[in-house]
Amino acid sequence: MPAPSWPDPALIAEIANGFFKAPSRAPILPPESPGVPIAPPTPALTPAASAVTTVAPIAPAASPFGTPDLPTTILSVVPTPNISAPPAPSRSMEPGVPDAPQPGASAGLFAPTDSAAMNAPPAQFGAFTAFVPPVHAATPAATPESVTGATPAFYFLPDAPLRAPQAGSALNAPMSSEFAPFAPPAPGFASPVERASDSPPAASPPARPPSSMPSADTADLPIDAGSLPGVVFPAASIVTREVPASPDFQVPGETFYFLSEDKSVRQNEGTRPEHGAPAKLLALDLRPEVVPDLGSARKPFDPYTIKRDFPTLREEVNGRPLVWLDNAATTQKPQAVIDRLVYFYEHENSNIHRAAHALAARATDAYEAARQKVARFLNAGSDRDIVFVRGATEGINLVAQSWGRRNVKEGDEIVITWLEHHANIVPWQQLCAEVGARLRVAPVDDHGDVILEQYERLLGPRTRIVSLPQVSNALGTIVPVTEMTAAAHRHGACVLVDGAQSVSHMPVDVQAIDCDFFVFSGHKIFAPTGIGVVYGKPAVLVHMPPWQGGGNMIADVTFERTLYQPPPGRFEAGTGSIADAVGLGAALDYVESVGRELIERYERELLVYATERMLSVPGLTLIGTAREKASVLSFVLDGCRSEDVGRALNQEGIAVRAGHHCAQPILRRFGLESTVRPSLAFYNTRDDVDALVAAVLRLQAGRARAV
Ligand code: ALA
Repeated sequence: MPAPSWPDPALIAEIANGFFKAPSRAPILPPESPGVPIAPPTPALTPAASAVTTVAPIAPAASPFGTPDLPTTILSVVPTPNISAPPAPSRSMEPGVPDAPQPGASAGLFAPTDSAAMNAPPAQFGAFTAFVPPVHAATPAATPESVTGATPAFYFLPDAPLRAPQAGSALNAPMSSEFAPFAPPAPGFASPVERASDSPPAASPPARPPSSMPSADTADLPIDAGSLPGVVFPAASIVTREVPASPDFQVPGETFYFLSEDKSVRQNEGTRPEHGAPAKLLALDLRPEVVPDLGSARKPFDPYTIKRDFPTLREEVNGRPLVWLDNAATTQKPQAVIDRLVYFYEHENSNIHRAAHALAARATDAYEAARQKVARFLNAGSDRDIVFVRGATEGINLVAQSWGRRNVKEGDEIVITWLEHHANIVPWQQLCAEVGARLRVAPVDDHGDVILEQYERLLGPRTRIVSLPQVSNALGTIVPVTEMTAAAHRHGACVLVDGAQSVSHMPVDVQAIDCDFFVFSGHKIFAPTGIGVVYGKPAVLVHMPPWQGGGNMIADVTFERTLYQPPPGRFEAGTGSIADAVGLGAALDYVESVGRELIERYERELLVYATERMLSVPGLTLIGTAREKASVLSFVLDGCRSEDVGRALNQEGIAVRAGHHCAQPILRRFGLESTVRPSLAFYNTRDDVDALVAAVLRLQAGRARAV
C-alpha cells in the first residue's frame, strides 16, 4: 500500500480546528497552531524537544463553570539530570582478585547505556532471555573449574542456583556480545519437583548437605570463601552454586511446583525431570475455596440484592444513606472480596514463588489462580499473557518504557485520542521526549465521538503504537476499539487498549479486539486498590525487556550478567500486591456470578433513564453525548461551579466527582476546566438516580430563591 501523503500542517490545523467548535456557552477559543511543542524549552540535558501534538491543546483563559481542582500548569516533560555513572572498573572482574569491584561500584553500568544496546534483539532460548551488559563484554566468564569445583547449593531456593555450565554455553563462552545465550538445563540439573508420596520410598535417610555449607537460613548471607575449594570470592559477594542433583539426595515432605527451575511447570503441576517423565498433576490442595467459582451459580439480576453485598453502600453520610455515584474514580468492594482479603491475611499470608513451606504454597496458589481468573475474564489465550501491576497507569508506563523504548525511534509517531485521561497521555509524552518521537491526537466531535476518518488519516508508516481508551472516563464515550485496532494494524502499528473504564461495564474479549496490549485497574472493578493488569500478546511480551529489575523477575544473577524470567514473571520485579491480586480474582468471580451481559444490559437501561432524568433539570448541560456511552454522566449547571455542586450533593450523602477527572485536554476541548461527573455501576438503582436529580433540582431551586 503506498504511504499516505501527509498534507500541509496548516491544513491539518484548519481541519482539526473545525472540531473545536465550543458549545454555545463556552468562551471563544484562542487560535492554535499545529506542532507546538508541549515540552518547555529544551534544557541542556533533555533530549531534543520532541513531544509534540498534531494540534495544540486549547484551553480557555478562564472557564465560567468553575476552577479546576488542581493548578492547570503541569510540565509535560520534567528534565532529569543526566547524572553520569561512576567510571567503569579499570580491570575486569575476575574471581580471586581481591580488589574486584563491589556491588554498587559499577552502578549505572549494568544497564544498556546506548540505544543500540537497548534495541538489540534479545536472544531467546526457550523461555529465557539472557542479557549481558555491554560494559562487561570483555569480562572473562567463570571458568569451568571455578564452578565444577563448588559444593552443593540449596536447590529449593529458586534465586540461588547457578547452573553448572555446559560445553559451548554462554557461561563458558567469552561474553563478546550484548546478549548471551542461556544454556538449557542439562538433564539431571533441574531440581526435582515431586511429592514425597509420589517418590519411591527412600532406602536410606536423605543425604544432608556437607556441614561446611550454610543452612537454608543463611543461604543469602556471605559465604566464607575460605570454605569453598578452589575459589576466592570478593568479600561480601553472594555466592551461588549448584551441583548435579544426586538421586540419593531426597528431601522428605511436600514439594512445591513454583520452586521448579522449569518455569513451564504450572500451578499444581510437577515434573520428574530426572526420569524424563511427562509433567504430572500434583494437586497441592492448599488453596481454600473461600470464593467458589460462582460462574455457574447465576442468580436473577436484582440491583437491590446486589447492593446488599457491598457494606460501604450501607454507610450514612451527613445523616443520609450513601449514594455512591463516583464509580469511574473507584468502585466499592463486595463482602466476598473483603472476606477473601481477610482470609488471605489470616491463613495464607506469605511471599510467593519462593520458600518451601505451606503458606508459600497457599499464597502462590492463590496468586496464580487470580492470574488464571484474569486470563479467563479477558479471554486471553493463556495466563502467561497476564502481568500484574499496580493499576492501569502503571500498565501503560510499563508498555511505554519497555516496549516503547525498544520500538519507538526518532521521527516515529504515537497516536492517542482526545479522550484520554492523563495516564494515557503523559507516559507517551515522556517516551516521545526521550526518543524524539511525535505524539499525535485523534480529534473528537462535539458529542465526544472519535472522528474515525481523522483518526485514520493520522495513521501512517511512522505510526508505531496507537493507545486508545475503550471507554472515556470524562465523557463515557464507548470507543470502537476493534475497528480502530484493525486500522492501526493495517499500518503495522501496535495497539494498547486502556480498559480502566470498560471492564466493569461490559464483556471484554482481548482476542476479539485483537489488541496487542490491554490494561485495567482492579479498584475500578470492585477489587482492591494497588492491583492492575497488563495483558500482552505472547509474541509481543516475549520480545520486551523488563522495565524494573529485582527479585522474582530473574532466572539467574551473577555480577556479570542476569538471566530474566519469561513473561509474565519478567515484568513482576520484587514483591507485588499479592493479597490484592487474590482480591482481584475474587472480584472477577463476583462479577461473573452476576453475569457481564446482564450487567451491561442493566447499566445501559439505567444510563438511558438517568440521561432522561438529568436532562429534565433546568440549566443542566450534559457534556459527552456520544452514540454509545457507558456509566458516565458529566454535566455542568448554569452559573454553578462544579466543585460547589459536588459539595452540595455531598451534603445529601451523594458522592460524585467534580473537577477535571484527570483528563484536562478533553474537558478543554469542550471549553471547560471541570464538570460534575456522576458515574454508575451495577449496584446503582433508579432510586439513586432519582436522589441525584432531586438534589440537583433542590440546588437549583435554592439558588433561584437566593437570587
Ligand atoms: N481516572 C480516575 C477517574 O476518572 C481517577 O476519576
